Formats: sequence, structure tokens, C-alpha cells
Amino acid sequence: MTEAFLLARRVLAALSIALLLAPGLRAAVPHEDAVPAYAEEQTILQAEKDTPEPGWFSLASGRNHMDRHYLGNFGRNDAEQELILQRGGNTWRTLRNGPVAVISAVILILTLLGIAGFWRFVGPARVDEPETGRRITRFNAWQRTVHWATAISFLVLAFSGVVILFGKKLLLPWMGHDLFSWLAIISKYLHNVFGPLFILCSLVMFVTFVHHNFFDRGDWTWIKRGGGLVTHEHVPAGYFNAGEKLWFWAGVVLLGLVMSATGLILDFTNLRPTRYLLQWADYLHVAGATFYIAAALGHIYIGTLGTPGAYTAMRRGTVDESWAKAHHLEWYESLRRRGKLPPAAGEPS
Ligand code: HEM
Repeated sequence: MTEAFLLARRVLAALSIALLLAPGLRAAVPHEDAVPAYAEEQTILQAEKDTPEPGWFSLASGRNHMDRHYLGNFGRNDAEQELILQRGGNTWRTLRNGPVAVISAVILILTLLGIAGFWRFVGPARVDEPETGRRITRFNAWQRTVHWATAISFLVLAFSGVVILFGKKLLLPWMGHDLFSWLAIISKYLHNVFGPLFILCSLVMFVTFVHHNFFDRGDWTWIKRGGGLVTHEHVPAGYFNAGEKLWFWAGVVLLGLVMSATGLILDFTNLRPTRYLLQWADYLHVAGATFYIAAALGHIYIGTLGTPGAYTAMRRGTVDESWAKAHHLEWYESLRRRGKLPPAAGEPS
């Protein structure tokens, strides 16, 4: 048995165990045991105990209760500042710490399992022909810088976001309060700073790469043949294939917009969004984060282990001629027709 096989088997076993434990993953404090903070909250809860908790879509969820202890703000007609209790707060906490966190964790674990299984049973998309040694430029320095800036800020947001969402349940018990509070504070500030930075990177990314991402006829053939991902056939593709274009439009553009809009709402509480809006922004932010992280895991797999030779394109900017022919034949042919291929090793330039 090869080392790779043994490693894949260990990864699969670890992920299976993690999946079995997933239903136990409930983020943060157990809501059923939440105790009212002080007497006024107790009174409000008692008065309303027979009214059902307003649901997810109910506007009554945004109903506020005045804080009669905080006289300073009274009469300023500023409901959010005088607010001590909001009915929907409990609904949000129950859903965010319960089903939302569990579904998010299950999707992420299933994605990791799926990728490990794909690697093990289907394997990487190798190039059949030997390398020719002729290196073709695929990404220039600017394109690589934009890609890495976006990728690094995404990774910072993904790790810090996961700590914010699952940390209290998963890390605090074994880290203890002192260490976890530092980690949580650092994660929160990193997330707050890298959020706007990521939006900027995504905008530059859009402008830099959009002209390579318009769909054409050839993409439909690529999709119908599943990109040859399972059969290992090399379906002809242009500069980017249909899968890469889909990642650009559905991931970078659509999920990027969802994350940016909801993230900015969560960031700028000084502009006084209502809690109802913040709660919805949070549900959508977690949903978007789950799908964005899952898709990014697939993207990272395909760009490294899944397609040998692809990583050098982003690392150093060039690919081997055989790689270009196998994975992006139409792009290679267009370079050749236009005389844009670099001289082969030993050929005068
Ligand atoms: C695209 C990558 C991103 C991912 C994967 C991500 C992930 C997450 C996750 C998982 C949470 C925790 C939600 C919860 O605990 O309920 C979170 C919270 C948050 N995110 Fe993001 N996020 C991303 C982008 C952004 C952007 C672009 C912004 C702002 C411009 C942003 C601002 C925030 C804020 C303010 C919070 C609340 C933090 C706190 O509790 O103090 N995020 N994010």
C-alpha cells in the first residue's frame, strides 16, 4: 500500500468520526438553560411566557422592550438604543447555535469527506505526455499578486469566522477561558479588518479576470462531458474551463456579494441597523460562508493535489507546454496560431 493511500485512509477515518460527532456540535451557550439577566427581564419573560416565540420570518420577532433602568436614553425615540430585550433574540440564538451551526458543520465535513473520497477513488487529472520543458506564461505578476491577496484574506476570514462560530463549543472546553478569550478577540479583530480588505481584493480580482470568464459554446461541451473530471479524458478548454468560470461567477461574484453585503451590515452597527436586520444578516452570512468555504476547498484541491502542474501557474506564473495542451487545448492553439509560444529549450529566441 502506498503512503498516499494510507494517508487518505486515515483522513477518511478521522472525517467519518468527525461526521458522527457533528450533531453534538452546537455553537456557544445552551439556549434552554439561559437564565434571565435580571428582574426586569424575568418579568417580561413571565408576562410573555404563553405567547409563542415569534418565528424566523415574523416581524413580531423584531418587537422591542424598553429598558426602564436606562433613563438617559428615554424619550429620544431611538428604539434600538433603549432596547433591553427583543423577542427575536431568543429565536436567533436558538437557530444560530442549533440547526444553523449543525447544518454548516455537516456541509463542511461532508465536503472534506467528498474531496478525500474523490482523491482516493478517482485520483488526480494527470498529463499523459511527458513535459517538453517549454514554459508558457499563464499568469503575470499582477494577476498572481491579486490572486494571493484575495486567497490570503479569504483564508484569514474563513479561519477567524470558524473560530467565532464554533470556537465556544469546540475550543473553549479544552483551551480554557484565558486562552480562548485571546483567540476569540484576535479572531474578531482580524475578521473586522480583513473583511473590508477582502471586498477590495474581490473587486480588483473581478476587474483583473472578468474578460477571461465569459461563457462560450465550447463551455457547454465541457459541461456535458463533466469536464472529464471522473473519466480522466482531457476535454478541450480555452484560457479558463467552464468549471473555473462557474467558480468565478457563483463563488467570487455571487457569494462575494452576499458576504460583503451581510458582513458590512454586521460591521457597521454604529449606523444603527435594527437587531432584526442584524439577525438576518447573520443567518445569510453563515450560509454564504458555509458554501463559500466548501467551494473554496474544492478549488484548492483542484489547484493543488487534483491537477498536478497547476500550482506552479499560481506560484511562479508558468506551466509546461504539455500541461497547457492537455488542460487548455484551445488556449494553447490560439497562442500557437498567434506565434505567442516561447522558444523551446535550445531554440534561438
Ligand atoms: C468571504 C469570506 C468570509 C467568511 C468565510 C466569513 C465567515 C464568517 C463567520 C463563519 C462568521 C461567524 C458568524 C456567527 O458566529 O454567527 C462571521 C462573522 C462576521 N463576519 Fe464574516 N466572513 C467572510 C467575509 C466577511 C466580510 C467581507 C465582512 C465585512 C466586510 C465580514 C464581517 C463579519 C462580521 C462583522 C462578523 C461578526 C463578527 C463578530 O461576532 O464580532 N465577514 N464571518
